[in-house]
Amino acid sequence: MGRPGVRSCTTIQYSESDLDLCLATEKDFEQVQSLFNDETDYMPSVYHSWLRERNRVVILAKLHGQVISLNSVHIVDDGQTALLEGAKVAASERGKGVGRLTFRHVIELVRVRYPEVKKQRFIKECKLDRGLCVLGTQFLISLRVPSINVPTLISEVISNMKKRGDEYYKPIPLQPDDVRSIFLNRTVIDTVLPGGRIIVNGSVFKPLESNLDILLKRDIVWRADRKDNTRAVSLGTAPYRDPMGNRVFMIDMFGEDLSAVKSVFLSQLQSLPPLQDNVICLLFVNPSLSPQMWEFCINEMGLEKGKQYWNDEIIVEDDISQNYV
Ligand SMILES: CC(C)(COP(=O)(O)OP(=O)(O)OC[C@H]1O[C@@H](n2cnc3c(N)ncnc32)[C@H](O)[C@@H]1OP(=O)(O)O)[C@@H](O)C(=O)NCCC(=O)NCCS
Repeated sequence: MGRPGVRSCTTIQYSESDLDLCLATEKDFEQVQSLFNDETDYMPSVYHSWLRERNRVVILAKLHGQVISLNSVHIVDDGQTALLEGAKVAASERGKGVGRLTFRHVIELVRVRYPEVKKQRFIKECKLDRGLCVLGTQFLISLRVPSINVPTLISEVISNMKKRGDEYYKPIPLQPDDVRSIFLNRTVIDTVLPGGRIIVNGSVFKPLESNLDILLKRDIVWRADRKDNTRAVSLGTAPYRDPMGNRVFMIDMFGEDLSAVKSVFLSQLQSLPPLQDNVICLLFVNPSLSPQMWEFCINEMGLEKGKQYWNDEIIVEDDISQNYV
């Protein structure tokens, strides 16, 4: 490996020859862990299973033997799409081209191993620097759940909503057959799902039988306001421990009907195991509902604002042939 190339007098830009780009292994875990240090980082909790998963490649970039970047690709949509997940560069090495080099390497590997792949898809949490095709956007509402009795709180909130005459629907837990009929329903795809896609934990899936088969094997709580004329659906992932020891759970919520979204959110909270201290909820909603949902969570439910790492998560989808150099 050579010395990093210098593109301007102030910013070092690495080139491919500076980095060792390689497949991730179990032995790299400790170093990989050190890349991940915030509440949104579920990666350490899935790293080992990702290494064993079919149709997935995890790539690391090392500098002088030290892991400084990770990116991963999962082949989905009946083998047609490369879904990029978990991109991360060590904080001290950001903005020096490492993310781009790792990304490019992953895509080159996909082209060789999976020549039938036509699309690439990922989530960006920051501004878009180039003409990427944007399918949709979700807004992050980051919340701290105070150490209170959550079931009691939810009962009070529901009873207040009913007293005020607000619409409240008792949402339904979805069985696998319900999941298939709702998520493959054309109206739900076109009017409820952001950009016609299912997002879970920062990964974006086309609503297809094969993708639902993958998702139904995961530990996900599926909820909808109702089975027919569905207006709100959500996927809640099992709480994971972040690097600070917090218990974090993510709820991906789809739909623009405020009452239905509130009801489904409450139902997701009801499905949680008993909670202790340091509980964080990362709720993703349609951006049009973010002011009302903030108001509902903070003022009506008494939850606290958590660390807002970003606002929008943007769904990007492009042809795999797009030049990323
Ligand atoms: C986003 C991040 C990976 C970018 O890496 P970087 O080395 O700082 O910046 P670079 O200029 O080299 O890389 C930018 C490139 O990273 C890649 N990249 C950025 N976001 C990506 C994502 N979500 N998925 C896959 N690759 C991504 C792209 O190739 C991008 O190129 P572009 O700017 O032309 O689109 C890095 O800043 C980081 O780790 N941020 C914190 C975690 C994060 O936001 N991860 C992304 C969502 S999972």
